[in-house]
Amino acid sequence: MRIVLVGPPGAGKGTQATRLAEKLRIPHISTGDLFRANISRQTELGKLAKSYMDAGNLVPDEVTIAMAKDRMEQPDAEGGFLLDGFPRNVSQAEALDELLRSEGISLDAVLDLEVPEEEVVKRIAGRRICRNDSSHVFHDEYRRPQQEGACDVCGGELYQRDDDSEDTVRKRLEVYHTQTEPIIDYYKGQGLVVTIPAMGAVDDVTRRALEALKREGADA
Ligand code: AP5
Repeated sequence: MRIVLVGPPGAGKGTQATRLAEKLRIPHISTGDLFRANISRQTELGKLAKSYMDAGNLVPDEVTIAMAKDRMEQPDAEGGFLLDGFPRNVSQAEALDELLRSEGISLDAVLDLEVPEEEVVKRIAGRRICRNDSSHVFHDEYRRPQQEGACDVCGGELYQRDDDSEDTVRKRLEVYHTQTEPIIDYYKGQGLVVTIPAMGAVDDVTRRALEALKREGADA
């Protein structure tokens, strides 16, 4: 199964992607996490990505598409994948279509996580992530770690992402509305979009997403 997860910054894409990928036994591919891993390792790609991410802008398509393509071509993604944060504009969506077409495969569904803007701001303000692995995500109020400041999964130090400052979040939301939202219409044109109300408990959102995939016949 091949799924794309869309939604504004802080909607809960990473949180849901981890859970859905585990249930559906497909890899969770997050371009944000891939960039952050490169930043931690201080690679050239990481240095380039950081300058765009800290300003709340998209990393240029050329490097993003090449990185995503490389990850999707790894053996564990042969049977399917769940994309989180990619594609993020129409030209990335077109590049993904072209890549899938060349492999004779296609997407099964695009899950659009719907959350009001004031909730997104609250979720981002309280988010803390693990220094060892940015897919280990916590929240000051909604998902407190057992031990203050330490990751429940690996014990790593929890910190606030550099791009979670108020100004950068405002910019990221603007970029989402102008550049990423248009991909929802693009995929509606292909009949792939399923809207998931993403308010409420994390478990409830996961259940809604799994039920929606089942209804769409995209859970096999
Ligand atoms: P990326 O890492 O993809 O960030 P994002 O899309 O802005 O999304 P977030 O990671 O902020 O939020 P999320 O929706 O995953 O929410 P989460 O699950 O953490 O991208 C970062 C940057 O990288 C971009 O700005 C760009 O520069 C660059 N980039 C990435 N991909 C790119 C691409 N394709 N092209 C170009 N540039 C790219 O949840 C948020 C918080 O809420 C957490 O604390 C969580 O615990 C909590 N939470 C989650 N669900 C719930 C719930 N139901 N109830 C209460 N709390 C909840």
